[in-house]
Amino acid sequence: MNDELSRITEDILEKIRKSDSLEKLNEIRVEFLGKKGRITSVMKNMKDLAPEERPKFGQLVNDMRQKAEAALEEAKARMTAAAREAKLAAEEIDVTLPAKKRAVGHGHPNQIALDEVERIFVGMGYEVVEGPEVEYQEYNFTKLNIPEGHPARDEQDTFYINDEILLRSQTSPVQARVMEQGKLPIRMIAPGRVFRSDNIDATHSPSFHQIEGLVVDKHITMTDLKGTLDQFAKELFGENTKTRFRPHHFPFTEPSAEVDVSCFKCGGKGCRFCKNEGWIEILGCGMVHPHVLEMCGIDPEKYTGFAFGVGLERIAILKYEIDDMRLLYENDQRFLDQF
Ligand code: DAH
Repeated sequence: MNDELSRITEDILEKIRKSDSLEKLNEIRVEFLGKKGRITSVMKNMKDLAPEERPKFGQLVNDMRQKAEAALEEAKARMTAAAREAKLAAEEIDVTLPAKKRAVGHGHPNQIALDEVERIFVGMGYEVVEGPEVEYQEYNFTKLNIPEGHPARDEQDTFYINDEILLRSQTSPVQARVMEQGKLPIRMIAPGRVFRSDNIDATHSPSFHQIEGLVVDKHITMTDLKGTLDQFAKELFGENTKTRFRPHHFPFTEPSAEVDVSCFKCGGKGCRFCKNEGWIEILGCGMVHPHVLEMCGIDPEKYTGFAFGVGLERIAILKYEIDDMRLLYENDQRFLDQF
């Protein structure tokens, strides 16, 4: 029986020496030391020995078990160290490599232009308000003096949710919403997204942005409108900028005008940028129509007001000399990074 014990001992030590993975070590542990392992079965044979030999044999088995366990532990430590060594070698870090650049985002040109417009008007004491993009036709048209069947509705065809609700075609409905609240005087701008059933090209998009302006108070005149927009143009495009008011028609203002600024590229002489005109159109405006004031609950005998509407993309395109509006929507990082 002692011989068998020696054979098992040699066998296990040999197997440990030859094993090359932690899994194999585990298999060896089970094969020899497990519940049904070979050492356990040797112990079972102890009953065949003479009683006086049993303690000695037991001692031998224990010695051998300890030896096997020590060898297993030692092999395990050796393998773990080797694995760690190999991993470190494979993951070598080259500290001389240049660090990864951190990409820092910045404002979209539309947003930069909007911030600028807001800064100018907030500086004149205006409040910035917002209205819903999904709007009642009542606010988008009727309360702005564009009743059902009026041809001006066709000029701003938009996307209808149902007969009453549409995607707003202009930011002007915010005027009606603010006037209705009845808090006077009013000095506000309302930036926001608008929608029209236009096809996309270099100057059109079915979804773009406007900034609406409205002032209502006692004694507001066309002079206030002209002075305000002239100051706005100078702050936005430079102090030498001149403005020109051309008569126009909008249903919700009377009188109405379109405003041109002198070309800030050529100073008005005429160039490619202003198509040789010397002037560039930037917005529509006018004195709030008395009927609009009335429909929104304001007494036109006591109060007057002016309003204007600017296309935000138009401002961004002019200010940053972008030649195609689509670039503003594609969000190509290489384009956006230039601003
Ligand atoms: N809402 C007009 C448009 O989309 C722009 C506009 C013109 C707004 C004159 C105004 C205004 O407030 O007074 O064409």
